[in-house]
Amino acid sequence: MRSLVTGGAGFIGSHLVDALLERGHEVRVVDNLLKPVHLFGRPNYLPPEVEFIEGDVSEGETMRRALRGVDWVFHQAAYQGFLPDFSTFFRTNTVSTALLLELIVTEKLPVQKVVVASSQAVYGEGKHYCPRCDAFLYPPPRPLEQLQRREWEVKCPQCDHPTEPRLTNEAHVDPHTQYAMSKYTQEMVSLRLGRRHGIPVTCLRYSITQGPRQSFFNAYSGILRIFTLRMLTGKPPVAYEDGLMQRDYVHVRDVVAANLLAIDDPRTDYEVYNVGSGVPTTVLEFAEVLARVLDTDLTPTVPGEFRLGDVRHIISEVSKLRVLGWQVTADLETIIRDYVTWVETFADLEDYFAAAERVLKAVGAVRRAA
Ligand SMILES: NC(=O)c1ccc[n+]([C@@H]2O[C@H](COP(=O)([O-])OP(=O)(O)OC[C@H]3O[C@@H](n4cnc5c(N)ncnc54)[C@H](O)[C@@H]3O)[C@@H](O)[C@H]2O)c1
Ligand SMILES: [Zn+2]
Repeated sequence: MRSLVTGGAGFIGSHLVDALLERGHEVRVVDNLLKPVHLFGRPNYLPPEVEFIEGDVSEGETMRRALRGVDWVFHQAAYQGFLPDFSTFFRTNTVSTALLLELIVTEKLPVQKVVVASSQAVYGEGKHYCPRCDAFLYPPPRPLEQLQRREWEVKCPQCDHPTEPRLTNEAHVDPHTQYAMSKYTQEMVSLRLGRRHGIPVTCLRYSITQGPRQSFFNAYSGILRIFTLRMLTGKPPVAYEDGLMQRDYVHVRDVVAANLLAIDDPRTDYEVYNVGSGVPTTVLEFAEVLARVLDTDLTPTVPGEFRLGDVRHIISEVSKLRVLGWQVTADLETIIRDYVTWVETFADLEDYFAAAERVLKAVGAVRRAA
């Protein structure tokens, strides 16, 4: 068995690599070691027995080489973030997926399955309920003027009443950002072309995935990295909006398990699944658990900053994947403990923290309400 993991030098991809090696697969990785995710070249957690191709997934020759003799493809490489280089998102995330399918079809490669890493981002604000209209709805993004008035909750487009979040299942998507659109088009390209040409494809929409090896320098890697580094260096974390946004956190090992299930269970062919906890956690609740784990009294400041394009609440419903036997094995505290244990192995944390702050400031996506 030979597996190709694109983006296998990254956070989720590298954990998948370990799991595949453990199963006895030969593993090939193609990864361009994108900066600033990888500031120091090939990461040392990547085992020496991995066949490593340094290259770009949107490049034909690289992918031709990468796909040779491969049974299973796990397409994890992606361009993430919120910079306005829109075309890069589609080139890396969507066009690379079309190229993958193109090479499998035109070169008649005996690939048994392609598993595609998608994202909860495809839902935008996800499913909401308006108590006044007694109706479910999928609201559009909150307008900038509303956020500047510090009115954080999503409002019903019919009656302007604040809505309540509900669990979002796979049925209805509404991608707003360049990243979300590129992920959704990636799904469409892989599922539809795969079905048309008889190449089994499964798309997995990960919720916020957390765990060891998340790059300190990935502006997109989110709350756990940022809050942990702040608290470990004695600074209060900064919560955006009012800190009551609800999010859905999943351990990287549960995401890896979903990827393995996708190659083990043919019922997943041509299907898309949410991979998350299904449990809402507010940013302030998250900070509380983290403070407990780190044994600190630090609490977040809530200065009314917000990020344009952030959703208010998004929690995935995960029953479709559960029916196949997949389960959440790690709660929030376990997720946080595993991450913190890894972070504490870094001796020069202060330096990393300062460097990460510089990198993230340069990306600058935060605004402040009036
Ligand atoms: N981490 C999350 O919370 C999350 C949530 C939803 C979806 N995802 C998806 O999961 C996948 C893995 O994400 P991650 O969190 O491990 O991110 P990551 O940045 O740690 O890993 C992505 C890897 O892809 C590589 N890469 C980027 N562009 C490339 C290109 N053009 N050619 C070859 N390699 C390239 C990077 O160097 C990196 O090693 C991505 O597809 C991402 O969109 C992640
Ligand atoms: Zn209403």
